[in-house]
Amino acid sequence: MTAANSDPIDTVVVVGSGIMGAGIALNFAQAGLAVRMVDVSADALENCRNQIAVNLDAFDEFNLLAEEKAQVAERISYMESDALPAATDGCDYVVEAMPEILDLKRELFAKLDDLPGGVIIASNTSSLTVTNMAAGMRTPERLIGLHYFNPAHIIPAVEVHRGDRTDQTAVDVTMALMNRVGKRPVLVRKEVPGFIINRLTGAMEREIDYLLDEGIVTPEDLDIAVKASYGFRLACLGPMEAEDMIGLDTAARASGNIFPKLSNATDPSPGILEKVDRGELGIKSGKGWYDYTGRTRESVLDANNRRLLRQLKLFTESE
Ligand SMILES: NC(=O)c1ccc[n+]([C@@H]2O[C@H](COP(=O)([O-])OP(=O)(O)OC[C@H]3O[C@@H](n4cnc5c(N)ncnc54)[C@H](O)[C@@H]3O)[C@@H](O)[C@H]2O)c1
Repeated sequence: MTAANSDPIDTVVVVGSGIMGAGIALNFAQAGLAVRMVDVSADALENCRNQIAVNLDAFDEFNLLAEEKAQVAERISYMESDALPAATDGCDYVVEAMPEILDLKRELFAKLDDLPGGVIIASNTSSLTVTNMAAGMRTPERLIGLHYFNPAHIIPAVEVHRGDRTDQTAVDVTMALMNRVGKRPVLVRKEVPGFIINRLTGAMEREIDYLLDEGIVTPEDLDIAVKASYGFRLACLGPMEAEDMIGLDTAARASGNIFPKLSNATDPSPGILEKVDRGELGIKSGKGWYDYTGRTRESVLDANNRRLLRQLKLFTESE
């Protein structure tokens, strides 16, 4: 990659203005960067603009903004996909947040192959490897994985993961950029499906599905048990810190007793599949494990975000 990488990054293009793109754009704008938001759908761009306004209101209420809401909002411009060449003209960094469809992502990356050598392309994929997405690219060295967590404007961590041809410069620039915009980047040191956190949540979800399917706990009690014990600790004491507190000998003995008894299912559980068949998909369909009848999707998400913002304040203060 070229020397342009050592230049400061001022302008970021975000492709895909959905759930994740809106949060990613707000994070960059809050840190003072210009953001060009690109989407194939004009409606999606309009929803994104509205969502960002709602998120800015909440940040403001929690005193998490260093400047006026309008100053942050004005840094984001909105463009439809046919304006991609204009949107990427002179940009320093691209974040892809389109649907999790391999061919769609590859098609975009092929279009971006002609960008100047210093421009890095980061994919927010949650399940694809960079090596796989970069197949067919003329400039695979610029492609990197940058995995945000939903809601991306609030959750501090991002996972940075590379493919077998990703340039070290792309890694270094991405880590530095994430630190600069106030994120807590974690480097995934070997290419594995699911990176770090989706492997951990996958392992936990498998066991949760088992406990529910076997009638060992109700969904409501499971939420209380996790939030008030393991989860309560996790935001301030990570698993390794907690294991040091427990004692590694005690932890190893408990693992030896419990691991053989854990679920080793390789398919989603019947319980969750039945819910999906009934159209009970969660907040977006009005019912999942809980019933949201009578509440709008926006109001439920906003209430969730406000709980997370209280936690963000504590997290930021305790760092
Ligand atoms: N939703 C999550 O919780 C979450 C968390 C982490 C990572 N991710 C990953 O982030 C990516 C985006 O997920 P999302 O949940 O924001 O999806 P989404 O469906 O909410 O948004 C995707 C956006 O991309 C737009 N789009 C589709 N084709 C396009 C094209 N050719 N050019 C430009 N825009 C196009 C759509 O109009 C839509 O607005 C996926 O790779 C997903 O796996 C999602």
